Amino acid sequence: MDTQLVKLTVKDSTDKYESAACLLRDGQVVGIPTETVYGLAGNAFSSDAVKRIFEAKGRPQDNPLIVHVSCFEEIYDLVSEVPENAKKLADAFWPGPLTIILPKSEKVPSCVTGGLNTVAVRCPAHPVANKLIKICGVPLAAPSANLSGKPSPTKAEHVYKDLNGRIPMVIDGGECEEGVESTVITLATPVPKLLRPGNVTLKQLKAVLGEVKVDDAVLNPLKDGERVSSPGMKYKHYSPDAKVILVRGSYEKFCSFVNKCYDDSTYSMVFKGEGKGINTKVIEYGTGEDYRQLSHFLFDSLRYLDEIKATKCYVRCPDESNDDNLAVLNRLLRAAAFKVIDLNNKMLVGLTGKTGSGKTTISNYFKDNGAFVIDGDIVARQVLSEDESLLSRLNDAFGGILASDGTLNRKKLAEKAFSSPEKTELLNSIIHPAINNTIHKQVMLGFEDYDLVIVDAAAIIESGFASECDALLVAHAPFEIRKERIISRDNLSEKDALIRMNGQKDDGFYLSKADFVINTYPPFVLSEELQKVETFINNRRQL
Ligand code: TXA
Ligand code: MG
Repeated sequence: MDTQLVKLTVKDSTDKYESAACLLRDGQVVGIPTETVYGLAGNAFSSDAVKRIFEAKGRPQDNPLIVHVSCFEEIYDLVSEVPENAKKLADAFWPGPLTIILPKSEKVPSCVTGGLNTVAVRCPAHPVANKLIKICGVPLAAPSANLSGKPSPTKAEHVYKDLNGRIPMVIDGGECEEGVESTVITLATPVPKLLRPGNVTLKQLKAVLGEVKVDDAVLNPLKDGERVSSPGMKYKHYSPDAKVILVRGSYEKFCSFVNKCYDDSTYSMVFKGEGKGINTKVIEYGTGEDYRQLSHFLFDSLRYLDEIKATKCYVRCPDESNDDNLAVLNRLLRAAAFKVIDLNNKMLVGLTGKTGSGKTTISNYFKDNGAFVIDGDIVARQVLSEDESLLSRLNDAFGGILASDGTLNRKKLAEKAFSSPEKTELLNSIIHPAINNTIHKQVMLGFEDYDLVIVDAAAIIESGFASECDALLVAHAPFEIRKERIISRDNLSEKDALIRMNGQKDDGFYLSKADFVINTYPPFVLSEELQKVETFINNRRQL
């Protein structure tokens, strides 16, 4: 099927609307502009048309459709009862971005309402949609005109991209003014309940109705087995291909978080004017103070992520204390599959200490207690075996450190790099930035699922990473105790143990940089010391 793209304005003659109206009267489906998002319209009284809508979108059959009318009077055919509150809402907000749920009439096919005994009705303000409904002479059932699960379309080209070849026509009526779907409120409950926030805000609804409840599903994921009041709430929604992650916290925190990212396909979606301070690629989606601007650009920005083949996007979270942002928040939470990083709650803690000081025991304790632990030794080994450009730089600096198969000959590198303090310095200046980059990446991943990330690394002070941590822990034990520990742990002779220990900086170097010292030797009791660290970390977190 070829999909025709037809431009229409309200000034066009009835004749120009006829080809679309004919298709609709004939039970076909057409992409139409509304002031919220584009809809995929079909005759609401035709089960065939409704079936085609579900097919074209790939939408689950139990997710009911909104029925669009051109004026309030037309709802009498669709609903079995018109409560006073419905009239009040229509007077205040129709035509406009508000959908009202009411008990349905016999005339509405049950496929429209997904088998429910209620029906959603809305009178769109977009003049082209309004005129088209009038000319068709039938109410139009229309979900958003995206493929199921994708961000809703706010431009005709979005619809064309999703549904080209699946439907006969898309009407181009320009860019949608609102950009997020209508507010959905049900009047079929004892107290009116907001099921989906939109740009008719909660405040505005309360001003007309008095008490309005907010459905739990507006801001929360469904619990297993939970029933939803609005079936659309249970599906994955608004998702671009990129992984969307919502990030809470100040602009400063956001910058210092995303600026650790060195990945070309990662984007940040931020408020207007904020892009300058950010090192990743950036999309600005409107000023943070204006919910209508954020809504307007939201889906277009999410769709743009697919266009540029972004793999991940960190999104600045709008102010959650302002109910006017509910619509944008609700869509973003779903686009992110409820993945939220709350930077106000995150702690990045460095852990270091001399050999045998008990670092590993401490990091295991944190791992067992729900922290994400990054082991600097493992990262170093990984970087040295995988990063080819790093190997060639090392080879340029030291010469003759590669085996015949191009892999690193560690022994050779150690011989050359540890032959003098200057050479050691040179080695560090090459490998520390590469190791830090990899640790940064792991910290960002860790923060997706954990509130506490511990970086356990012997050279965390020398590499400069310690200064990025919210706190630095130093494990400490006296020389003799550490010597006994590494002799028995690594099966070393006393001589080898001493060689290893003597290469390290003195105690003062570590202790002077510590925010917290963990004494891992008697008479200190380890479990008590660990308790103290936890308390220290929790206190820091609340700062
Ligand atoms: O702005 C809009 O509302 C756009 C434009 C095209 O008008 N339409 C739209 O439709 O967003 P759709 O199908 O994508 O979303 C309709 C929402 C879904 O979450 C659905 O579950 C809910 O409304 N809904 C429809 N009928 C319902 C009913 N009887 N009871 C509860 N929820 C209902
Ligand atoms: Mg939709």
